[in-house]
Amino acid sequence: MFTKKMFVLLGVLVLATVVITACGTAGPAGPAGPAGPEGPAGPAGAAGESVSVADLTCTECHNDTAIISSKKASWNESLHGSGVAFIEEGGNKSCAFCHSGAAFSAAVAAGQNFSQLESGDANPTHQDCRTCHQIHTTYTSADWALETTAPVTTVTSKATFDGGAGNLCANCHQARRYMANFADKVDPTKFAPTARFNTHYSAQADVMMGSVDVNAALGVEGKASPHMKVEDTCVGCHMGLGDVKVHTFGAQLETCVTCHSDATSTDVGGATTALADKVKQLEEALLAKGLIAESAEGGYAAVPQKEATALDAKTAGALFTYFLYEEDGSMGIHNIAYFNTLVDAALEALK
Ligand code: HEC
Ligand code: HEC
Ligand code: HEC
Ligand code: HEC
Ligand code: HEC
Ligand code: HEC
Repeated sequence: MFTKKMFVLLGVLVLATVVITACGTAGPAGPAGPAGPEGPAGPAGAAGESVSVADLTCTECHNDTAIISSKKASWNESLHGSGVAFIEEGGNKSCAFCHSGAAFSAAVAAGQNFSQLESGDANPTHQDCRTCHQIHTTYTSADWALETTAPVTTVTSKATFDGGAGNLCANCHQARRYMANFADKVDPTKFAPTARFNTHYSAQADVMMGSVDVNAALGVEGKASPHMKVEDTCVGCHMGLGDVKVHTFGAQLETCVTCHSDATSTDVGGATTALADKVKQLEEALLAKGLIAESAEGGYAAVPQKEATALDAKTAGALFTYFLYEEDGSMGIHNIAYFNTLVDAALEALK
């Protein structure tokens, strides 16, 4: 039998012959012969040290501290954790970027904004830990890094929101539509409201920049909020300025008092109450003119208008101002001077 061992033996013999020949003559060495076959496996090495759980980087997060569970508890109380809009809206490509956490992560990685998704999310999720943090990418605590903090060029106004860690939030908390989306088809200087004559609930970044196109309709200048100077903007006010970040996402009075030293509530100097009174006057004026009516979903909605009854820019601007205040949801705090300017102009327009 021509076994492996015989091959090795043959190889050694050939090699010896070559060496002997080489010793005998001074001529150039011949070309190397073909490599011999693989030899037998060597003996097993000594047993390695066993890996302990503590060596796994997983334990930087998965350990007996409350690092995950405490955040989860407060997040559960927030609308990100308890809201159910994702179930209905996550599957729709027009809504998935903001209403499904996993779709958001994928779209941000692909450099897309909310208007560029080609499909909805068949398995929609809450806005959860993975939505905002880079969970399970390096499997170390470096994965607490945020998915994005790049400045956000908003889809509707093209203005750039640059507010530190708050940029994460501005990707979703920006207007979906402006007044321009309701321009009348016959006379483009006029507006034909539908029952959804608003920005959608997500107008916070636009409000902070003072960039909504109602400015042009009412002839006012929109100024950015002094609150753009709060460290990390949205994050500073809604999660606090300390190392531990509050995950209920409610406004943090501790942040306000760093600038408004005697504030005991978010109604600093009674300014939100004063604005609310003016908005109430606006509401009454809009009702009197039949421009708003009670909505089945609660509150008021715009009364839809057709071409013949399309609204002039100032009247439409007054109506849009009312809904901007409602949808923003901050009692005006995001940009109180801006709201005061808009509401004053709106009341004037309806006189
Ligand atoms: C940056 C911190 C961090 C590190 C490091 C980390 N995880 Fe996680 N892990 C999380 C968070 C946050 C969740 C989601 C918790 C929740 O929603 O209850 C999670 C969830 C899980 C789950 C539950 C199932 C799931 O996918 O939601 C498993 C299993 C898991 N991790 C395993 C691991 C393993 C194994 C490693 C290491 C190879 C690891 N994790 C490293 C933060 C981390
Ligand atoms: C992936 C999109 C997305 C991101 C990123 C995001 N949000 Fe939200 N946020 C939402 C959606 C959607 C809701 C409403 C959820 C629902 O109703 O199901 C919401 C709800 C909220 C609410 C509750 C509003 C209420 O009516 O109670 C606050 C406050 C809030 N977000 C603040 C923030 C802050 C601060 C950040 C940044 C740290 C942020 N959000 C990041 C999409 C997002
Ligand atoms: C640019 C991001 C964005 C897009 C796109 C978007 N939404 Fe939203 N939506 C939000 C945010 C943010 C909130 C919550 C804001 C708040 O509560 O103040 C919200 C709230 C809602 C709510 C109210 C949820 C509640 O708990 O009260 C409904 C309903 C809703 N959206 C439906 C839709 C539908 C339907 C679409 C697609 C046709 C859509 N949204 C697209 C950001 C978005
Ligand atoms: C100056 C501090 C401040 C900044 C900066 C700020 N907010 Fe707010 N925000 C508030 C306060 C105060 C409220 C009123 C509701 C409350 O008391 O929780 C509010 C309300 C909201 C609401 C509606 C909550 C509800 O219950 O309906 C959302 C959503 C929101 N903010 C998101 C944001 C986002 C996103 C940003 C950044 C683009 C931002 N906020 C920046 C202070 C701030
Ligand atoms: C809507 C976005 C959002 C969601 C959802 C979210 N976080 Fe955060 N988280 C943040 C932001 C913003 C910070 C501040 C990070 C910074 O400024 O670098 C933060 C900070 C943290 C930190 C470090 C600071 C601290 O307080 O210890 C941990 C840990 C953390 N988050 C855990 C979680 C866990 C666990 C979940 C899921 C239960 C979660 N986060 C969900 C936005 C979010
Ligand atoms: C970085 C500093 C800073 C922080 C933090 C801050 N603000 Fe302000 N705020 C200002 C400045 C500046 C103005 C405009 C000048 C003024 O009226 O005092 C202002 C104005 C206001 C106004 C209007 C006051 C008026 O009399 O017209 C209200 C209301 C307000 N802030 C509420 C808040 C709330 C609520 C918080 C916390 C959630 C907060 N601010 C956090 C700097 C800050």
